[in-house]
Amino acid sequence: MIISNQVKSTQHSCVVGLQWGDEGKGKIVDVLSAEADIVVRYQGGANAGHTVQVGDREYIFHLVPSGILKEGTVCIIGNGVVIDPRALIEEFDGLLENGLDHEANIMISDRAHVVLPYHGALDEAKESASEDGKIGTTLRGIGPCYTDKASRVGLRMSEFVDPDRFKERLTRIADLKNRELESLHGREPIDAATVFEEYSAYADRLRPRVCDVTAYLHEQDSSGANILFEGAQGALLDIDMGTYPYVTSSNTSFLGLGAGTGFSARKVDRVLGITKAYATRVGEGPFPSEMADEAGESLREAGAEFGATTGRPRRCGWLDIVALRRAIQFGDVDAMVVTKLDVLDHLDEIKAAVSYTVDGVETDQFPASVDCEITPHYRSFPGWLESTAECRSFEQLPEKARQYLQFIADAAGCPIAIVSVGKERTQIVTLDPWLEPGTNGEGD
Ligand code: GDP
Ligand code: IMO
Ligand code: MG
Repeated sequence: MIISNQVKSTQHSCVVGLQWGDEGKGKIVDVLSAEADIVVRYQGGANAGHTVQVGDREYIFHLVPSGILKEGTVCIIGNGVVIDPRALIEEFDGLLENGLDHEANIMISDRAHVVLPYHGALDEAKESASEDGKIGTTLRGIGPCYTDKASRVGLRMSEFVDPDRFKERLTRIADLKNRELESLHGREPIDAATVFEEYSAYADRLRPRVCDVTAYLHEQDSSGANILFEGAQGALLDIDMGTYPYVTSSNTSFLGLGAGTGFSARKVDRVLGITKAYATRVGEGPFPSEMADEAGESLREAGAEFGATTGRPRRCGWLDIVALRRAIQFGDVDAMVVTKLDVLDHLDEIKAAVSYTVDGVETDQFPASVDCEITPHYRSFPGWLESTAECRSFEQLPEKARQYLQFIADAAGCPIAIVSVGKERTQIVTLDPWLEPGTNGEGD
């Protein structure tokens, strides 16, 4: 067993990010997929970048679930995902180039919405319209595609792979979008005929993969399959519970699972929340424990904190317990996975934010507004100043690292199931039994 079975006889697990994305979900899903029959992505789109390192080979998945490397695992892209066919086919080709002929293992929901070139063009136009309103999106057309879904003018996979319906819908929608692009944003219109020609070829390739994945998941559940759900982004980018408006356009937490698959979240036995041992964020928006100084720079360097999708430098900061507790609470997290512990190996002092002063009032709650002034209060820990990269058990970790992990469990009020000490698949410490929170609640 990769992780302890102590909750109950588990069948289905869900992996979600607890911060602002890039927590190392890809690596953990890859590791856990050893015990899964099916891996399911349920939201987000090609804005995600999930890295899996196997030996000296690095894979970055944007739409394909991170379980794809395991021979025979069925990988499902659920209805809650917005699919850019061009990006997906690039990923298929990338797999083939690496000798992985796993395309036939992929199933795509017939209800998933399709990202088309006008979504990317609108994303870019909106982002460049005003510096003030800039979200710092990945420019992958995510917001505009989910907007169409909510406005009930989106195009779904089932229509996309039907040439007549695709042509008819595309012509009608492109007309509307071109009016928006030209008159509102002064951009070039999209030529529907050119898009149709290019995207028809993608539709031909994807058609055999498109089906009713909800029915399949229910069938497989009845037959006793192990299902692993993979969240993209992180809890604080959740459209409802995150740092709105500096969020993405989907429910990135466990909250998105049911709606994004048609499979009841009540059937999921175990939610694993992934957090780095520190914090990062890419794009605009509040980040109370951000380190704007050289310490932030040194973490960025040590953790190679550059976006897996856009290559942008990630903003770096200390672990934020206030934000973490919130994410664990609304995400119904059973246990945490703490990644990138090794990135702190060189630091003689490590900090974590344990409370805030928000507009002059001390609190341990995460505020709703992004306009308030937040001063974090830190607790400081001595660094362990030795390498953790070769540790494979809790006992092998330096004592000060174990104390820091115990603090995280205590302060977050949530056990730790796994610790990751390097990017490679095998650099993992499984805690069996889980490291439970102690009695000293706030970690004091
Ligand atoms: P995801 O979006 O949550 O899957 O995370 P990303 O792949 O965008 O970013 C995580 C980065 O950290 C990737 O480059 C991983 O290879 C790397 N990584 C994951 N776990 C660890 C770890 O424990 N230590 C180190 N040093 N790197 C890690
Ligand atoms: P993974 O799955 C980190 C951020 C963008 C931006 C905001 C909105 O790799 O953790 P969008 O393009 O979604 O409209 O951008 O969300 N963002 C991510 N940040 N990791 C991600 O995915 C992200 N996906 C979106 O930087 O701030
Ligand atoms: Mg990422």
